[in-house]
Amino acid sequence: MTALFADLEETLPEGAALFRNRLSLAEQHAILDEVEHVIAEAPLFRPQMPTGPTMINSLTNCGPLGWISDRRGYRYEPTHPATGRPWPPIPQAVLDCANSLTRQAGLGDYAPDACLVNRYEASGKLSLHRDFDEADFKWPIVSFSFGNDAVFLLGGMKRQDPTTTMTLRSGDVLVLGGPSRLRYHGVRRIRPGTSPIEHGVMPEGGRINLTLRRARP
Ligand code: SIN
Ligand code: FE2
Repeated sequence: MTALFADLEETLPEGAALFRNRLSLAEQHAILDEVEHVIAEAPLFRPQMPTGPTMINSLTNCGPLGWISDRRGYRYEPTHPATGRPWPPIPQAVLDCANSLTRQAGLGDYAPDACLVNRYEASGKLSLHRDFDEADFKWPIVSFSFGNDAVFLLGGMKRQDPTTTMTLRSGDVLVLGGPSRLRYHGVRRIRPGTSPIEHGVMPEGGRINLTLRRARP
């Protein structure tokens, strides 16, 4: 993926790429309209972590599989835990954008089977973690940001490794693939009042993040 980095502002470790402003405001609006439909079909919920407490952000999913958490652990499931219905499809515009990035990166067509929708309130955050519940780490994580800025932390392969701080803004797309696929990452905080767009799907001061994954081989 190294060839990609030449025109990027930030210098990121190999396999990580940040495409600033990849989505125009019109494209962001259109995707958030789709996310609104996803949430209407598969309501947001705040899952319990295996350790007991409830997660800070609410989430839902689209695609054949959805990431969930409960007392039994973290895993992918084909249906919503509360409604029992299949997750709605991943918006085509999200798939198209992810595909063009993976093709550009020489990874070929990306066929993600899961898209996690995270909704952060103004006080939202996400502790350092790795996306480790997928069967095959050959495929990258492709992450789309909407709404308020997030102070994002990119770490190393171990939790205690030093982290780099960067701002993820509305319309940015971050790819974590190759040797960066299993890097620790998290969101330290949201910066309320920084969103360039308003949409009913984001509460005041909020942020939406979509992450595409390939969960099954
Ligand atoms: C995640 O790691 O699942 C989400 C990251 C983000 O919200 O930017
Ligand atoms: Fe993650």
